[in-house]
Amino acid sequence: MKVIQLESVDSTNAHAKILLASEQLPFWILAERQSKGRGRYQRKWISNSGNLFCSGVYPIVHDLTHASNLSFVAAIAVAETLAEFVSPELIKIKWPNDILLNGKKVSGILLETFSHKNNNFVIIGIGINLLHHPKDSLYPATNLLEHANNNSLDQSPSIILDVLIDKFEALNETYTKKGFAPIRERWHRLCYNIPGEVDVNLLTEKFSGMATGIDLNGSLLVRLSNGTMRNISAGDVFFGSDNV
Ligand code: BTN
Repeated sequence: MKVIQLESVDSTNAHAKILLASEQLPFWILAERQSKGRGRYQRKWISNSGNLFCSGVYPIVHDLTHASNLSFVAAIAVAETLAEFVSPELIKIKWPNDILLNGKKVSGILLETFSHKNNNFVIIGIGINLLHHPKDSLYPATNLLEHANNNSLDQSPSIILDVLIDKFEALNETYTKKGFAPIRERWHRLCYNIPGEVDVNLLTEKFSGMATGIDLNGSLLVRLSNGTMRNISAGDVFFGSDNV
């Protein structure tokens, strides 16, 4: 797999859009730091050197569901990568794709789709807090070093990215051959607080209910107190009382 390594870039996701015109797909970009790292909902992603900032660029071969399913593939790949360095039971995925370590956010994924010359692409941006984390983030955050076995993390971001790409490729092959069902099953084994109480905070409404799982499109299934089921496909979801 081709990995383009850069010292400093505005955002690996933004840079991926420029490179996809000239690079053969798939490829990955790894940056030591980002000056305009971005998170979901136009939030900033603080990107000082020491943490992992990368983007993978893949063709979208079916419809857009394919792209959103890849965000679950990516989340599992990140979770399984981190589980190599800390006690695996500490790693959970908060729907849809935030990775938690001991209940705090250690990694986020920003998936963007893009069209170029009538072809569709998905850019999978992944940030992992390896050595440090922001202190005043919306969700409580942590870093891998804080919980690493033997209190040491002697692997560079590029070695960790190699592990991540191997896992992503293996899961992507499973997804390509067998569809979303085995990915969904694996995601359910890693998910945070499901079944569990959730406060759903959409742009247009807010409500609470019991999260029971994800459906075959990756939507979060929430049972309201009157028994109605809701499928949530986007939005901020707060689980339990700890607002993680
Ligand atoms: C989130 O809000 O949780 C998603 C954060 C995604 C951050 C990564 S860092 C590498 C890539 N480049 C960006 O500008 N953002 C993503």
